[in-house]
Amino acid sequence: MRVLLSEDELNQGVSRLADEIDQHYEGRPLTVIAIMTGSLVLFADLIRRLSMPQRVGVIRASSYRGGTTSCDLQVDAGMMIDVTGRDVLLVDDIFDTGKTLERTSEMMKEFGAASVQTAVLLHKQREHLVQVRPNFVAFQIPDEFVVGYGLDYLDMYRNLPYLAVLDPAEIEATAAEVEL
Ligand code: IMP
Ligand code: MG
Repeated sequence: MRVLLSEDELNQGVSRLADEIDQHYEGRPLTVIAIMTGSLVLFADLIRRLSMPQRVGVIRASSYRGGTTSCDLQVDAGMMIDVTGRDVLLVDDIFDTGKTLERTSEMMKEFGAASVQTAVLLHKQREHLVQVRPNFVAFQIPDEFVVGYGLDYLDMYRNLPYLAVLDPAEIEATAAEVEL
């Protein structure tokens, strides 16, 4: 496993991200929505660094990859809080194809949000499949499959305090291990 961003670098990146978001909203109340499960760790760190009054909610999105490539997107809004007339900030771990943020942003507008902005820890440098781009980005990363700090492979590695690139042998070994 090759470390791409250390715990210290991630901390600094999240603080920069929070500063940018604070500057944008200038203390106005915000409804912050975590896109689960990948944003779990980032979200906990980010909301504690933001200074405005916040309402906090979650929505679940999964690309049903079962591997390292994205396929059909499923969104579960069963735990969503009311966002009618609210300024909403959607938080996700990574902007890859962009489908998750495109779809969840549309949903927030359908739910009646007054405004929708998006924040991600990572922006993968690759061809995106959508027009939208995240409003706040902590790090640009190369087009590699990464795990840690909330990001998973087969729901493993989310607990790593750093961000790492999995090599093909580790991907294979993890798949074998996860299979019960
Ligand atoms: P998108 O919809 O293609 O932008 O993908 C967003 C979702 O795919 C993210 O929320 C992640 O859960 C997952 N994802 C994309 N790239 C990676 C990666 O390198 N490692 C782990 N998960 C990833
Ligand atoms: Mg995710």
